Amino acid sequence: MSVSSLAAARHSRALPEREPIRLLFVAAEIQPLAKTGGLADVCGALPQALHEAGEDVRLLMPAYPGALAQLADAQTDIALPGLLPGVDARLLRGRLPGTAIPVWLLDCPALYARDGSLYADAGGTEWSDNAQRFAALSHAAVRLAMGDNAEQWRPQVVHAHDWHTGLVPLLLHFAPEPRPATIFTIHNAAFHGCIALPTARELGVPEAALGCDGAEFYGRCSLLKAGARYADRLTTVSPTYAREIQTPAFGAGLHGLYAARGAALVGIMNGIDERVWNPAVDPHLAAPYSAADREGKRACKRQLQAELGLRQDADAPLAAFASRLTTQKMADTLLHELPALLERHPRLQFALLGRGDAELERGFRALAAEHPRRLAVCIGYREAQAHRLHAGADLLLHGSRFEPCGLVQLYAMRYGAIPVVSRVGGLADSVVDHHGASAAQGTGFVFDRAHGADFAAAVHRGLGVYAARCGAWDALQERAMRRDSGWRNSARQYQTLYREARAPVRVA
Ligand code: ADP
Ligand code: GLC
Repeated sequence: MSVSSLAAARHSRALPEREPIRLLFVAAEIQPLAKTGGLADVCGALPQALHEAGEDVRLLMPAYPGALAQLADAQTDIALPGLLPGVDARLLRGRLPGTAIPVWLLDCPALYARDGSLYADAGGTEWSDNAQRFAALSHAAVRLAMGDNAEQWRPQVVHAHDWHTGLVPLLLHFAPEPRPATIFTIHNAAFHGCIALPTARELGVPEAALGCDGAEFYGRCSLLKAGARYADRLTTVSPTYAREIQTPAFGAGLHGLYAARGAALVGIMNGIDERVWNPAVDPHLAAPYSAADREGKRACKRQLQAELGLRQDADAPLAAFASRLTTQKMADTLLHELPALLERHPRLQFALLGRGDAELERGFRALAAEHPRRLAVCIGYREAQAHRLHAGADLLLHGSRFEPCGLVQLYAMRYGAIPVVSRVGGLADSVVDHHGASAAQGTGFVFDRAHGADFAAAVHRGLGVYAARCGAWDALQERAMRRDSGWRNSARQYQTLYREARAPVRVA
């Protein structure tokens, strides 16, 4: 051993061991067990980054049939009789597929064994007992966190996500000490999960929490407010969104609370799982490619055009949309602007993969029928096809009226599909506009107001650079692909936060 490495070894022994944090993640959806949107991606990938960084992270989510099927060897951990009045449940324990991370599934067939999506029936109507379904999850998290599990494992920090788990910080706030610290992450401030006050009482919310200084919101109980009010620390998923929600335009009625809690609120940018979203090894693609060698992307474009019945044309700009079909994602604006864009750019092709608002689905289908071989509309939720779409597309059209973080633009950049985005939330934090002095750092096209004309103007700018074939497009594409969107930096910020929260920082 050299002198310098001996010195380094002595030095490292002298440093106090960094104890792993015992951390319980609670969420309604965790990839790959269950997913409807970005919440699942984050709750699947962030724990893996934390686990790799040495933390003792464990997960809890409902035992939906799809999740149970993936954890066929899960064992009963503990029974939870009377979890809610008249509701018996049990915890099953397994591991997140492909990892060593322990997962508890809350098994309660009366609440979770159903067809349809995680939150609604096959026709899109929300389950009428969603309050019970997610209150049960929250109570189970509290029981688990207070040591009710076979191992009597007690987390130091409980990290709860979005309105479904808003009761976790509230219930733990009123739990006897010692209790774990709580962190509540707001992935989307627009979804409150409001329930009637009598229902809240039946679900075990203490009276003391049902005033306007508590979780009450316009005569009801907001589960989002419960989390935001009572968590020891609050986070949201990008720095810009953390500032935006403190304003009336983005706070969905809680901007005052967020501003009052400003000192406890931090925005930490989401990352992406770079093992799953990597065009060099993606099993869904026709050919692999990378930032250094993008030849394979041409084959992916050919494959996508063939798959979707678009004209085979290697040089036609191919723009994509791959999100929930909602007004949040400006899908209505896009539908309105597309006919003029198609007319002005005769070679432009457009491919959509999405599901959501029935009227928007109909509108896009009708437009596709008017533009055969130029416009392909796939209504549905297809993970593998989303990969192929980013790989085959040149541009991603991703306006948002508000965007807490947005993962789709990160996937698109990694796959060399240049995003056209509005300057809000995590879109503003992740995409650098290719314009003027900043062109040399540009990774996409950014527009300022959520207006159709501004959206269309940004698309024209993008198509202009694509058509010019002057090297600028190649440089833009390479920069976008090389952007570091992994979890490492953000996971470090969470690790610091967990350690700070573990110290007594109780909210009053
Ligand atoms: P949000 O969570 O608001 O919908 P994000 O951009 O954070 O937005 O995450 C959306 C996630 O859902 C991404 O992983 C995206 O690929 C996926 N997704 C959205 N719509 C579809 C779809 N129709 N088919 C497949 N994946 C989809
Ligand atoms: C929400 C937001 C989205 C974010 C995702 C994961 O669904 O709408 O912007 O990326 O959560 O945090």
